[in-house]
Amino acid sequence: MISFRDFEHAGWSDNSVAQSYHQHLGHVTVGCILDLLDAARFKRDDRVLDVACGAGYVAAAAHDRGAEAVGVDLSASQVRLAEQTYPSIRFIEGDAEALPFADGEFAAVLNAFGLPHISNADKAAAEAHRVLKPGGRFAYASWCVASACIGFSMVYDAVRAHGSLDVGLPPGPIFFGYGDPDYAREMLGRAGFSEVSVKEVPLVWRAADPDAVIEGISRGTARAAAVFNRQSPNNLVKIKQHMRDRISQFRENGAYAVPSPAVVVAGRKPG
Ligand SMILES: C[S@@+](CC[C@H](N)C(=O)[O-])C[C@H]1O[C@@H](n2cnc3c(N)ncnc32)[C@H](O)[C@@H]1O
Repeated sequence: MISFRDFEHAGWSDNSVAQSYHQHLGHVTVGCILDLLDAARFKRDDRVLDVACGAGYVAAAAHDRGAEAVGVDLSASQVRLAEQTYPSIRFIEGDAEALPFADGEFAAVLNAFGLPHISNADKAAAEAHRVLKPGGRFAYASWCVASACIGFSMVYDAVRAHGSLDVGLPPGPIFFGYGDPDYAREMLGRAGFSEVSVKEVPLVWRAADPDAVIEGISRGTARAAAVFNRQSPNNLVKIKQHMRDRISQFRENGAYAVPSPAVVVAGRKPG
């Protein structure tokens, strides 16, 4: 069976997945950028690394605060999209588990919604620690636990109700695990970080139509899309209806606002 890393690499290397994520999910994840940047506490002219940068939203926001920002992502398609979106920022291909940078190069390392896509998050945290200067901070954002993060958990609920989660995917990390404050503190502690803080950010997935949320999941993600798209046609009809019914509960001012809270976790490299 293909490894989880190669599965994720293949998924995010598809240009249409990168574009759909940008269209449907980019406007949701950017909602935690201010908290992420504040938690990292870097200053003007500091070097800041955005890991699993996707289209580069976080690197661009750090650049706007005066940092010398660099983005890194496993997917060449995402790196191309980031370069097109933010031409004045440097983006490169690279793996969060083996960052292509020397020890102590950065004042801050940021990671927005990347950890559930990385096979060994402990290694990614250790790499963030390695490339940080003493006193530098690692800050990450990740979805809250499943019971709170309806935007994503509803696809798994719908599949459990009308299909099967057993669709031959390689084993990977628990999608919602890094949003558990206790786990987050332990993980950053294991990587050598101190002064760990955890803050919940009440993100909302806003859409004009329930099918836009379904399209975001089925076309703009790797693992959730595979779970969804590997169902039988009959079950898929029921799964989509289950999701439409769920999303309809969050109608607000003629549109839909699906709760999708995240946590921002940060820790300091001692020194
Ligand atoms: C959910 S997107 C996050 C994009 C962006 N940071 C945001 O906030 O919206 C996850 C990203 O992780 C990248 N990724 C997956 N595995 C990776 C790895 N091992 N190293 C670096 N990036 C990885 C994917 O290519 C994808 O761009």
